[in-house]
Amino acid sequence: MNNFPLSSLLAAGIAMALSAGATADGISKTNLASPSGKIAVDFYLTDKGQPAYRASFSGKPVIGESLLGLDFKSASDMLDDFSIVDVKTRSADSTWEQPWGEEHYIRDHFNEAVIALEEKGPATRKLNLIFRAYDDGLAFRYQVPQQQGLDKVEIMQEATEFNLLGNHSSWWTPALAGEKYEYLTENTPLDQVKLVHTPFTMKDKSGLAIAIHEAALKDYATMNLSGNGTGLKAALVPIHKDNPVKVETSTPFASPWRTVQIAEKETDLITSYLTLNLNEPNQLGDVSWLKPGKYVGIWWELHLEKGTWNQGPKHAATTENTKKYIDFAAANGFDGVLVEGWNWGWDGEWFNHGGAAFNFTKPYPDYDVDTLSKYAADKGVYIIGHHETGAETDNYERQLEDAYDFLQKHGMKAVKTGYVESGELLTNGNYHHGQKFVQHAEKVTKVAAAHKVMVVAHETVKDTGERRTYPNLISREVARGQEYDAWAKDGGNPPDHTTIIPFTRLLAGPMDFTPGTFDISLPSRPDNQVNTTLAKQLALYVVIYSPVQMASDLPENYAKYPDAFQFIKDVATDWETTKVLSGEIGEHIAIARQQRDSENWFVGAITDEKARDVAVNLDFLNKDLSYTATIYRDGDKADYRRNPEDYVIETRKVKAGDKVRAQLAAGGGMAISLLADPH
Ligand code: NOJ
Repeated sequence: MNNFPLSSLLAAGIAMALSAGATADGISKTNLASPSGKIAVDFYLTDKGQPAYRASFSGKPVIGESLLGLDFKSASDMLDDFSIVDVKTRSADSTWEQPWGEEHYIRDHFNEAVIALEEKGPATRKLNLIFRAYDDGLAFRYQVPQQQGLDKVEIMQEATEFNLLGNHSSWWTPALAGEKYEYLTENTPLDQVKLVHTPFTMKDKSGLAIAIHEAALKDYATMNLSGNGTGLKAALVPIHKDNPVKVETSTPFASPWRTVQIAEKETDLITSYLTLNLNEPNQLGDVSWLKPGKYVGIWWELHLEKGTWNQGPKHAATTENTKKYIDFAAANGFDGVLVEGWNWGWDGEWFNHGGAAFNFTKPYPDYDVDTLSKYAADKGVYIIGHHETGAETDNYERQLEDAYDFLQKHGMKAVKTGYVESGELLTNGNYHHGQKFVQHAEKVTKVAAAHKVMVVAHETVKDTGERRTYPNLISREVARGQEYDAWAKDGGNPPDHTTIIPFTRLLAGPMDFTPGTFDISLPSRPDNQVNTTLAKQLALYVVIYSPVQMASDLPENYAKYPDAFQFIKDVATDWETTKVLSGEIGEHIAIARQQRDSENWFVGAITDEKARDVAVNLDFLNKDLSYTATIYRDGDKADYRRNPEDYVIETRKVKAGDKVRAQLAAGGGMAISLLADPH
């Protein structure tokens, strides 16, 4: 989408926001403030000439002296002995349009300083640090210009630090611990953090919320954080198990942005779009072919082991079964039908380095792809292709063009990709989240875009806002999703999981969580159940943002609760705006979202294992309109363990300023559709 300035770019330095301190030796420090002055960053050189920064929020120090620099393998490190040779400042204020999203228009308003450093000698190599101060956080990146004597570089580590000024309450998942990004979140004091993923979220004693992450991850390793007391240091993921190098590149290059979002209250982190603002605008040109929407599919029955991916008597992806789902999708207004297990490759140990068997153009004999593609198209539905790679990226890359030609030829407008493996390594020995995998993920996205295919990526790398640049990268998993409820040995996701991830994982971007289980007690899985009430399942469609949402349960289970199913049929997946009404990490959250290009609103409110009262103030509604509210709430006897399927549906007329009060059961929730009356 186009960038159109709200007010023009202000090129020069801003006296209020930026100041450079000069000494007899030259410039020694730079102060940068965000447009409102709320966030201030001091950049300076230490006595040894090492770059360093500090940051504060509303005058309160948040990050103490934190060092910066790059550690190379062969070339000498870029750590100290620098002087500041130039500081260029600018301010920008523009608003850009998302082709789809949780917010239609996003304001990109910041002050920036490009600080040019040069080694004092005998070497005189150059390193730039670019700092940006937004009102919702700060960001910085390294930029190494092309220069004599520094062509190819191998980065062993960044010296980047984030030294917090208190032992904050921290929410984290462990990095490089064997399960990629799929963990339950730990909540500990900061000084107990060892090696963790980002987004990494903290809260100080006053309630100030801080989240560290990265933006515009491109041709670089992902950044984990290692803890030491209340300090954190960047820990880049290695390329390969036998190669400790983190990034192989050549000058000129820039690192991803290192981001620190800061907000007075944790709910404001959710509507901070800093990560997106730091990514390049759309590079795909016309993206009107991208369509958010809802899907069903041959999926949950596989996780319940009612059917199999592999061939045999229980093979699920048959022509007949797929037709059943296409009929169900068409009858209920769904856009897509996901089919897993349609292609050759599932008959061996695909999840354990057996991915070389996957063929992405050869359907199993009982899956008639031509007939099904036509059948789906005739009913106004498309099939979502599935590319499980078993983490065999080389095999996938060899077939990439053919695989996407095949999808396009058969009208499959979306694909779900997967990289299942045990451990943190791809079959070729590369790290799952190292530079080579980041390159692979970008390649897949681009090939998909060239074939007009939307990508929903599972077990891929974390989101750092690339959807702005490649809007066909429409959603991803990259956390524990609903599937864990079917088979996790720990009994599935506990009730607080979905009250945590909006403040952690979801700060990165949309998630294909796949909610919508109505048969909560999972009779075929005696050791597991879904740890929510049915009403909470509905609320998740609003709380967990994804432009493509799955109704994941079996059609026969929806048939048992047609009145509750109505919410899934009605709820939008593309939004004009998002408002977080209330929330505390790990306890409860309520979100209202306005359907894009519409006056309709949807609300989701959820709680952890504690029952609690909620009052939703409808002051966000258009004051000139009246609305029909349909409230899907927990019944009086609802409880996620004992009585999850007890719900009540009430319909009434409401207007702006009215309140909807309800009691959320233990593990419960409430969903509200607010449809504007004809006007
Ligand atoms: C893991 C994915 O998250 C899940 O959705 C999929 O069904 C399996 N892998 C098989 O590809």
